[in-house]
Amino acid sequence: MIVIFGATGTIGAPLITTLLTKGIALRAVTSDASHVAALEAQGCEAVVADFEDAGALAQACKGAQKAFLVTPAHQEMGRWKANVIQAAADAGVQHMVMSTGLGASPKAKLTFGIWHSDSQELLKESGMDWTLLQPTYFTQNLLWQANNIANENTYLDDVGGPVSWVDARDIADMAAEALTSEGHHGKAYGLTGEEALSGEDITALLTQTLERDITCRGVSPADARANMIASGMIAEVADAMVELGGLAPKGYLAGIETTVQDVLGRPARRMADFIAENKATFGG
Ligand SMILES: NC(=O)c1ccc[n+]([C@@H]2O[C@H](COP(=O)([O-])OP(=O)(O)OC[C@H]3O[C@@H](n4cnc5c(N)ncnc54)[C@H](OP(=O)(O)O)[C@@H]3O)[C@@H](O)[C@H]2O)c1
Repeated sequence: MIVIFGATGTIGAPLITTLLTKGIALRAVTSDASHVAALEAQGCEAVVADFEDAGALAQACKGAQKAFLVTPAHQEMGRWKANVIQAAADAGVQHMVMSTGLGASPKAKLTFGIWHSDSQELLKESGMDWTLLQPTYFTQNLLWQANNIANENTYLDDVGGPVSWVDARDIADMAAEALTSEGHHGKAYGLTGEEALSGEDITALLTQTLERDITCRGVSPADARANMIASGMIAEVADAMVELGGLAPKGYLAGIETTVQDVLGRPARRMADFIAENKATFGG
């Protein structure tokens, strides 16, 4: 039995699909009881447990040999991950695959890197076998811009430099591989796509696929922060996002990792294909 935390999220949802396709017995964890029926209809067990609820987390881990853990970007995510790691270790889970972020290490100086590093160190000390997935910006973040792309023909570039976007389905495929095959214990996998794309590059791909002119508009860090907060993001997380985005103009978010090809034996998914798959969402 594998227990999946964050099961309905950007990484969790494709991970559930992939593992069910492989015929693996799963327990999906959600904090929202209204998600249970849909998860069960997919063919897995589904339980309700909030990251704050130690008793429910203990129940969720009961009888599981392996676990996958991701939490939303949240200022409490360190404490939430600590609660799950504790529950899993206490329940006798043997191997946990945890998704954090690229650059997370004890030497990290940025907020996200420090938050994720603290969780990574906790997992390493937990007694469980561990595998870390460390992704860069998700390709799926482009969906946050569906409205301005579809209705205003504008791509808002809030980082101002190239980023080696990774598709969350590749993160999910890496998680599935680490959970179902040998040789991944004690590994930390940096995950990126195979190309670094600037705002102008993404705008060109949108223009080509949607067959109409899309304009790239730069957004200042202050406006980016205000937009994120207006869309419901917590201020501390928006600050961390802006801090991270500040690395892009220096080229520090453009590094390419070959992990997807090396481990899965196929190329990482491409932004161009993601845009084509989601053409209707972008008003195409
Ligand atoms: N987006 C990026 O570009 C990026 C880049 C690098 C790293 N990251 C990291 O990736 C992580 C986010 O991954 P993601 O997008 O897959 O996550 P997500 O979709 O934001 O969240 C995963 C799931 O967590 C569940 N959840 C929310 N609150 C909960 C609670 N209190 N208790 C239990 N479950 C709860 C939600 O499901 P229910 O509603 O069903 O409970 C949600 O679907 C963050 O740690 C972020 O820092 C993101």
